[in-house]
Amino acid sequence: MARNQNPLAFAQQALQRLPGELWRQERCLRPCREGFKMGNRGGQPLVDFSSNDYLGLAQAAHISGDAPPIAAGGSGASPLVTGLRPIHQRLREALCLWLGRDQVFLFPSGFQANVAVVAALADRHCLVLADRLCHHSLVLGVRSSGATLRRFAHNDLNDLERHLKKVERQHPQWRVLVVSESLFSMEGTSPDVKALAELCRQFGALLILDEAHALGVLGPLGRGLAWGEPHVHVVVGTFGKALGSGGALVAVDGVLGDYLLQFCGGYRYSTALAPPLAAMALKNLQCLPQLEQERQALLSRSRQLRQRLVDLGYPRPPGDGPVVPMVVGDGGLALELQQRLEHVGLLVTAIRPPTVPPGSARLRIVLQRGQPPEAMEMLVQTLVAHHSPQ
Ligand SMILES: Cc1ncc(COP(=O)(O)O)c(C=O)c1O
Repeated sequence: MARNQNPLAFAQQALQRLPGELWRQERCLRPCREGFKMGNRGGQPLVDFSSNDYLGLAQAAHISGDAPPIAAGGSGASPLVTGLRPIHQRLREALCLWLGRDQVFLFPSGFQANVAVVAALADRHCLVLADRLCHHSLVLGVRSSGATLRRFAHNDLNDLERHLKKVERQHPQWRVLVVSESLFSMEGTSPDVKALAELCRQFGALLILDEAHALGVLGPLGRGLAWGEPHVHVVVGTFGKALGSGGALVAVDGVLGDYLLQFCGGYRYSTALAPPLAAMALKNLQCLPQLEQERQALLSRSRQLRQRLVDLGYPRPPGDGPVVPMVVGDGGLALELQQRLEHVGLLVTAIRPPTVPPGSARLRIVLQRGQPPEAMEMLVQTLVAHHSPQ
């Protein structure tokens, strides 16, 4: 068959094949005291139950209108070309102390950090065992490394062990990396990190844990679930979620610090994190001790919401952190519920395939510090009115 001479045909065909209920649209939402406002000035305020601003720190900055402290401007080049700014150094030192790690690398985004770090640590002589529900960026990192990728069942350490035993038997010469997350952002679930780290230690596997959604929220004083676990070799975190800024960190110990500086192309060949973002991340990191009680309150509200849904006859949403997924199955239904909730002033985004597995479209309810107490009840009442428990 002759080659199609239209170089854009692939895009047109892909768009035509996309079912209507999976079509994505961007929109502009303006921050306001309640959360966001849609459209122009007269738009209805929406309480934010969608963003990953778990501690309300990004929202607080929007409301106060504070300029980021200390630093302005861009970085100008890679940290290996024009160096780190003092604000980068201060943020790195604070993060090393907070996470109990020897070295921290800063990245412009978590997506980039994941791709860069996995691609630097794996190669075509490796097997990477990744949780089946790992973030797309981690999977892209494995693909770009040339390593063999196998997926283990979500948070299932028995299945991981089965894979580890198999590779030990069949390919004893392969290096093995295990990749997982400490709070799965669409599931609300966490692995048993201690047991995961111990399993990796037993099999001599390198463990990379993406703590994007856990840092600031889970673990002792919000330091994540890898805190105090030396056999979690690499911790990835982001500043765009609980830390209310943007950018990311990779924290490691010992030789891995030297290795990443020499061999991580995604760090060396990218303009350093913008100083205002670093300054905002540092300012918010320094606020965390004062927010400890509110962090605890957030976790207890998360438990209350789960229990409330169970009491109403819904299945218990998995996990126990501030991400509370309500799986409804059908993408169209999830969108309809999103619209119903918007109608009463609540922003709860419908999450549809391919972000989640087919047939598991859901509302991703995100609890945050600072949400008005009556908003959660309004959310529950609206769900009850429009989606009966099975
Ligand atoms: C688990 C996980 N890792 C990494 C990222 C990417 O982080 P960033 O938004 O900073 O690029 C996300 C973003 O949603 C995420 O959910």
